Amino acid sequence: MTIRVGFIGVGGVAQVHLENMKENNDVEIVAVCDVIAKVAESTAHRYGAVPYTDYNKLLTNEQLDALFICVPPFAHQMIEEKAAARGIHLFVEKPIGLDIYTVHQKYRSIKEAGIITATGYCLRYLDIVRKAKKYLADKTVGMARGYYLTTFVETPWWRNMNKSGGQFVEQTTHTVDLMRYLIGDVQKVYADMALRVMDDTPGIDIPDVGSINFVFDSGAIGNITTSFTQPDHRSGIEILGRGFSLLLDEDSLVITEEDGQQQIDRLVDFRKEQDDTFIQAIMTGNRDLILAPYEEALATLLVTFAANQSADSGSPVYVDSLLEKRSEKNGIY
Ligand SMILES: NC(=O)c1ccc[n+]([C@@H]2O[C@H](COP(=O)([O-])OP(=O)(O)OC[C@H]3O[C@@H](n4cnc5c(N)ncnc54)[C@H](O)[C@@H]3O)[C@@H](O)[C@H]2O)c1
Repeated sequence: MTIRVGFIGVGGVAQVHLENMKENNDVEIVAVCDVIAKVAESTAHRYGAVPYTDYNKLLTNEQLDALFICVPPFAHQMIEEKAAARGIHLFVEKPIGLDIYTVHQKYRSIKEAGIITATGYCLRYLDIVRKAKKYLADKTVGMARGYYLTTFVETPWWRNMNKSGGQFVEQTTHTVDLMRYLIGDVQKVYADMALRVMDDTPGIDIPDVGSINFVFDSGAIGNITTSFTQPDHRSGIEILGRGFSLLLDEDSLVITEEDGQQQIDRLVDFRKEQDDTFIQAIMTGNRDLILAPYEEALATLLVTFAANQSADSGSPVYVDSLLEKRSEKNGIY
């Protein structure tokens, strides 16, 4: 059985997925689409695929089992709905959209089609995250602190709120998702964000610093600091409970207890693990293999929207209120 895979959006992150798929013996990369013709053509040439510049044509002409959607956050259009209607299993890069209503519409199409979905929350596939989750299973978390401090992303769409959603929605979402995965759902968000020092960047309208507080459903509290003003990249989380802490980044997990400290280093290529698991889930029909299906990405997205809303209003935002407002307005949820 060969899984016939297509790609829509073959810029930066798609190159990683393409390489992973090339190395997967169960996969044939059939077609790629990018609105920039020369990007579509050169990528297609590299992987022996058919190039497209219009995703509708790709979906009409090709028989696909699976599709990687790697367009920027503002550019999802109706890709998910149209692919789902054809029964194509979907890998959707995070963040899965910039508007609660359209993302819910997509989710409904996906549910109706019964397809398998995965999203780009790759940190869930870290072996050290699995270990941290197991360690926490019988523990009470008191609080968590996270940070995503990095460099500016030059890609033109990234600096605009209406195209990327800002750093917290677009990037720091990985940290939010990791906290949700390890600690549980977030109930309340209070955020301060500001454009403090990068305001001379042409066209920029997203905050370059942010400090975001959470209350989890469990009663645990947490915070994340976020910034793209830095010359280097640092990200990770620390989780504290009575007599223990877990310090986790992409490369290692440090567990500190009263009688000592243990460091466990990452062994897996978590992005490859993520992509191969998607293919494995399709081949076996076992969707439980997927650690971040579409609905999990949706839940994480809502927390990041709540943060933006809180930063705008200056008030705390209950994550559920985002859904309630929408439901009152449209009567569909
Ligand atoms: N999971 C991760 O770790 C990770 C890492 C990087 C990026 N991402 C996510 O992946 C997404 C893409 O990011 P990127 O860095 O690859 O962006 P990018 O700008 O490098 O690439 C996006 C590509 O999509 C193309 N495109 C835009 N609209 C299209 C359309 N309608 N049809 C076909 N092609 C279209 C663009 O021409 C571009 O080549 C973003 O949501 C980003 O957050 C995830």
